[in-house]
Amino acid sequence: MIKKVMKLIQYVDILSASRTGGKLFTDEKYVLTPLAKEALKRHNVEILNGGSSMRKIIIAGNWKMNMTNDAAIELSKAVAAGMGEVKDRIAVMCPPFTALSSVAGAISGVNGLYLGAQNIFYEDKGAYTGEISPDMLISSGCSFCIIGHSERRKYFGETDETVNKKVKKALEKSLTPIICVGETLEERESHRELNVVKKQISGALSGLSKDDIAKVVIAYEPVWAIGTGKTASPEQAQAMHAYIREQVASLSDAVVSQSVSILYGGSMKPSNVKGLLACADIDGGLIGGASLKAEDFLKLVHFDD
Ligand code: PGA
Repeated sequence: MIKKVMKLIQYVDILSASRTGGKLFTDEKYVLTPLAKEALKRHNVEILNGGSSMRKIIIAGNWKMNMTNDAAIELSKAVAAGMGEVKDRIAVMCPPFTALSSVAGAISGVNGLYLGAQNIFYEDKGAYTGEISPDMLISSGCSFCIIGHSERRKYFGETDETVNKKVKKALEKSLTPIICVGETLEERESHRELNVVKKQISGALSGLSKDDIAKVVIAYEPVWAIGTGKTASPEQAQAMHAYIREQVASLSDAVVSQSVSILYGGSMKPSNVKGLLACADIDGGLIGGASLKAEDFLKLVHFDD
């Protein structure tokens, strides 16, 4: 007789989930070891089982090429001081590489606050002048990494292929990729936005297993809304987010696609965050301008207070 055994979730599984965004995905029945149970509470990890629709809200700040070390420390300390006891959400700060270590120090031990990088390279080490490896990011305290931002696609030749290589490398190293997709104004005006985003999603996720797809975060950032003050309306954003979730489902399955957080980015600010996050498929934001002021960023983190 074959007995179906339950999946055993151990202490190390919880620890690795806490480093990569606080979500542990499984579609099997499971039991926790006593140590894992303790760690679950201590590290605020959530187990997503069998298509649970509980997605953690993620408010991520993309500082872009702003902030010297001193300014970065000041900003991150102010954000750390205002985080409070958050449970159903996390905040991620993505400073420039030069400030990663100092920001890591300033936010160390703060509940719900994580560090991310703005880019990554897909090789482990070697003669790649000016590039940064995943191990370097991890040793600087990162658990997240933005990949394929439209500014990198536009100014630095990033393509769906390089995005895919970077996503695979990030996942191999247990960094959570925040994969950016989004259409330009011209593409939207010529009604090509769905095809453009579909191609970016299938390119970024090409060759990934379902388990790996469950670990990614996607950011929908219409290029025409980035840094322009123009925001997609909640209806426009929701329609695209639902479409992205469908695409993710077609590359994995419905359970996995329900567990993937899809963030909106493009002039998100305290005055429009509520309407956007009220939408069923919008699970947080990737924020540029408004992440550079602690007061505004904290208003976004505590958008429902
Ligand atoms: P923005 O930038 O909030 O300044 O529009 C968003 C982004 O580029 O990630």
